[in-house]
This record gives sequence, C-alpha cells and structure tokens, in this order.
Amino acid sequence: MRRFLSLGLIGAALSLGAGPALAQGKLRAEIMHWWTSGGESAAVQEFQKAFNAAGGEWVDAAVAGGGGDAARTAFMNRLAGGNPPTAMQFNTSKQFDDVIAAGQLIELDDVAQKDGWKGAVYGPVMDAVTRNGHVYAVPVNIHNNIWLWYNADVLKKAGVAPPKTWDDLFADFDKVKAAGVVPLAQAGDNWTKALTFFNVLLGEAGPPLYLKLFKDLDADATKTPEFKHVLETFGKLRNYVDNGVQGRQWNQAIGMVITGQAAFNFMGDWAKGEVVSAGQTPGNPVGCIAGLGHPAYWIGGDVFVFAKQSDPEAIKGQKLLAHVMLSKETQVAFNAKKGSVPARLDVDNSKLDICAQQGLKILSENKDVVKGFDLYLTPDGVGQVYDAIGQFWSDPNETTDQLAGKFAEILKNAKQ
Ligand code: BGC
Repeated sequence: MRRFLSLGLIGAALSLGAGPALAQGKLRAEIMHWWTSGGESAAVQEFQKAFNAAGGEWVDAAVAGGGGDAARTAFMNRLAGGNPPTAMQFNTSKQFDDVIAAGQLIELDDVAQKDGWKGAVYGPVMDAVTRNGHVYAVPVNIHNNIWLWYNADVLKKAGVAPPKTWDDLFADFDKVKAAGVVPLAQAGDNWTKALTFFNVLLGEAGPPLYLKLFKDLDADATKTPEFKHVLETFGKLRNYVDNGVQGRQWNQAIGMVITGQAAFNFMGDWAKGEVVSAGQTPGNPVGCIAGLGHPAYWIGGDVFVFAKQSDPEAIKGQKLLAHVMLSKETQVAFNAKKGSVPARLDVDNSKLDICAQQGLKILSENKDVVKGFDLYLTPDGVGQVYDAIGQFWSDPNETTDQLAGKFAEILKNAKQ
C-alpha cells in the first residue's frame, strides 16, 4: 500500500493532462470496480444505465476478485502511472484515507451540498465519506456484512429448523451432515473466513465485546473467557466444511446454498444479489439471519472516489456520476439487485425483500448497529486480522490462545 502511494504522488502530478474526454457530446467516464459476479454485474448495470441516460458514457473497467484486493491494487498502479480511471470503488472504510492525504482525490462538496446528501444519507455512512468537513466519496449502499444464509428445503429434508442459537446451529450441522449434505459452504479467501469469524464474534458474544476489541482497541479483551469461547466456536466450524474450501470464491460458496449442495453460508448481503440473480426470491428457499444469537447490523458497503483530473469535462463527468449514483431512483434500482439497502434514507423501502426488511429493522432500532472493523483499523491492521484468521483456519495445531495473542498484538499496534 505505502509503496503504491509514494509512487502515486508522482503519478498524480503526471496525471493532470490525462483523463477521459468528451466523446460525441457524452461525458465519458471510466469506472473501476470489482463487481463481476452474477448479482454484482446485474447491479452495476443499473448504474451504467442511469449514467448513460443522464448524458454520460460508462466505460467499464471491472477487475475480477471478490472483496476487491486486485481492483484496489490495479487502481493504485494506474494512479502511480499517472493514468487513473475516472472513478474507483472502495469499501466504506479507511481504504482511501491515504489517497485523500496525498491530495489525489477531488472534493464532492458542491454535489453533496446541491443534492442535500447530508440530510438524506444515513449519518454514519455520511461520516465515513467525510474528512475534515469535506466530502471525498459518494456512498452507494449500506451492506450488512453479518448474515447467515440457509437453504430451508435442505433443512427440512434433514428434519431440522432454522437455528436461533449457536447450539442449534451445531445440532443442525450434525443432522445435515448425517443426511449427506455439506453443512457449511465456506470460501477460500481470508476475508471470507474473517467474515465467518465476525459472525461468531457478533452473533455469539454480541456487540459489546466486538466494540471493546475494535473500537476501544482493548488488548485485554482478547484474554477474556468470552473471547476464547468465540475462537473455539470459530475453530469448530472447520469440522463442517467440505474439502473444496481453498480456491473457492464467495459467490461459489453462496451458490452451493442456492442449489442445495450446502445448508449454510456466512456472508455479507451481497450474497443476496446472487440469490436474486439466480431467479429466487429472498426467503424461499434461501433464508437469512442477521446475526445468529444477537441480531446485528455491521455497517459495510461501497463508495466511489474520483481521482483529480485537469480536463474540466472529465470533472463534469465525475460529478454527474456522483449525482446519478446517489439519486433516489438509481439507489432503489441498484440496491434491489446488489443485496444492500440504499445509502439514503429518504427512499421508498417498502418493496424491499424480507431480508432487507430484517436489516432495516435493526438499523432503525439502532441498538445493535456497529461500524465495520475496517472503519476502525487501517488497511494494514485489517490485513493483519485477515492473515491471522486465515492462518488459524489452515493450521490445526494453532491454539486459540496463540490466535488470541496475535489479536492482542494487532490491537496494540493499532493503538499506537
Ligand atoms: C463489497 C461488496 C462486494 C463484495 C464481494 C465487498 O467488499 O462491499 O459490494 O459485493 O465485496 O465482492
């Protein structure tokens, strides 16, 4: 990251003459993102349609790879080379702090002001795109990263009901396994294993322990019996996956639940985009639980940032795109396919599916809502958490105390 950024500084200076131009009266914009699964592509097409209808010309620069590591690296390389795309996706997180600090992004204060973002966008999300009073990104959705998905038909066949507690879940796993179906579909990337871990932390222990760890960076919380129990529970999940975990993408894992090859999967609600794009209605047969044990909403999601350009037409295109992405109609159309809920609260949510309604209820009650840990930790800290979890998952000899020790180190470093 740091390496890319120092190169990026030089790149920014070079980039001033480059950038998209006006093509046949259209504001051309090259948009880089990592939305390439079935549900993600269907959703991003809504942006494309809306931008083109508003006088833009969407040039797609998708970089495959769920979670976006590859896309973010590609963006940093383009920035360093002085040829950044017009717009770039990031998570609603600290991922773009360094490029803001390096002065490489345009401010969107005028669009935000004109379109009334401040009153309309969900407060914590608006905060997440604002630095020192300036708006640097357009928020496009709110994802809840903490969901357990299950196939109700598979559960019925195995003679079990959807779980209410973690004990229920393990009892269901045993029966599903005995019925010859994979109990838990897990993907291979460390970030997907981390999401499974965070489901255990928030669902089994509840938000207070999560906040002690990641908001307060309280390393002592890693030594509690509660945290040990979370790690043990997480470790136990490894007994219920099949042999195909390594190399499996997140969309293939939820695909196993959609097709009935597996009973359960932990994943953010972009998984619901796959359910919808497979032609199913959320809830039947794929059901959803936001935080097993403790209902929870982890605020995640996506934003777009705009690298500085010298061509005024290019900047016009960037601002048009920001306006279009957060307009009410586009928000409803995009989020219905993406699996998330709109970033703005002043839209008609009555037609959202039952999973989104479940999520919105938690959001509106506002007591079990937490920010994603990537809003507390820097990308380096986030990467360390992913690595620690990934190593533990793959090494049967690593003890939960050893893993807790790694967490303590990460939190101590983050506090400095
Ligand atoms: C993003 C989602 C995306 C998922 C899988 C997450 O980081 O927030 O929008 O669908 O990665 O690619």
